[in-house]
Amino acid sequence: MTTSVLQQGFTKNQLSFKNRIFMAPMTRSRAVEQKPNDMMLEYYVQRASAGLIFTEAAQISPQGVGYIFTPGIHTQEQVQGWTKITQAVHAKGGKIYLQLWHVGRVSHPEFHGGSLPVAPSAIAFQGQAYTPSGPKDVVTPRALETHEVKAIIADYKNSAKLAKEAGFDGVEIHAANGYLPAQFLEDGSNQRTDEYGGSLENRSRFLVEVTKAVSDVWGPERVSVRLSPRNPYNGMSDSNPEATYLHVVRELEKLKLGMLHFMELATLPEGVQPFSPKVREIFSGMLILNYGYDQKSAEEVVSKGLADAVSFASLFIPNPDLPERFRDGHALATPDHATMYGGTAKGYIDYPQAGEQQ
Ligand SMILES: Cc1cc2nc3c(=O)[nH]c(=O)nc-3n(C[C@H](O)[C@H](O)[C@H](O)COP(=O)(O)O)c2cc1C
Repeated sequence: MTTSVLQQGFTKNQLSFKNRIFMAPMTRSRAVEQKPNDMMLEYYVQRASAGLIFTEAAQISPQGVGYIFTPGIHTQEQVQGWTKITQAVHAKGGKIYLQLWHVGRVSHPEFHGGSLPVAPSAIAFQGQAYTPSGPKDVVTPRALETHEVKAIIADYKNSAKLAKEAGFDGVEIHAANGYLPAQFLEDGSNQRTDEYGGSLENRSRFLVEVTKAVSDVWGPERVSVRLSPRNPYNGMSDSNPEATYLHVVRELEKLKLGMLHFMELATLPEGVQPFSPKVREIFSGMLILNYGYDQKSAEEVVSKGLADAVSFASLFIPNPDLPERFRDGHALATPDHATMYGGTAKGYIDYPQAGEQQ
């Protein structure tokens, strides 16, 4: 048994966490008709020993959906499903933030009664959407009118209210991985000429206004923003990612954002400098790092003071009690890729806790 900095609880900006091993958000595509269910409840309860659980991404509106079997946070029925989950996680001593999602152009007309998906600009990318009738090539999206952008910000606020009603401990705005907020931030997907496009200030405006709207509901200290610079996923590109992302971080710092969930490879290719130490200097809230960390690299980054916690995704799939396994030096299981997205209880809630290995 080893004591590690990762196992230490901590308090920052009046928020307390029992350890620094957070569970990263993971879409697992088990929702039926966009509603959270008892299988999802069991999945999250099994992982309640994480210092904080970020849920899978949940669409904030019917327009925000882009994948089958993902849950939403825009109806009362969804609130009821999530309420059962937050209560069960809290009963196990866990904490849980809901991830708020609008996919923008990463969608398909099949989800929208034949209408086009929306985006900052009518720019397509090479990719596929996972629709009810199977994977389909994405289409060129329709550029949002300015008044529609403001309506989406109102949708974020509404979903933040519903998340509060459902008893979450906080919310995370998903501004990573090429979804709508990232599409506004990066100039490869944003060629708007109104107040939401062009200058860095304008490209950041959408995320800043969403963060303000969500903070009006929660207080900024209980809001997290997830960013993933230099991530080409979903056809993303930016001409100067360092300038873009450090600008956004400065803006979020001005808003007194509670938590920044920053995605950057734990091991970058030779010669590539990390942005996260610069982010740490600018941002005074909680900094959570993610991507490709293991116990050793996470301990290192937290010990050096470069992060408050590290989030783990794939390791939490087959190791529901990951903090205990780290603590007790148990062997780690590997996930089954065939059951990652969609399906039944298999590969979802049947991974044993370390003590009950078959
Ligand atoms: C099955 C799966 C689903 C994911 N879904 C989401 C998601 O809904 N929201 C999100 O921000 N990231 C999502 N991610 C990315 C993870 O949160 C994480 O950033 C990535 O897996 C790297 O972390 P890791 O090296 O610990 O696995 C997903 C990853 C996996 C493996």
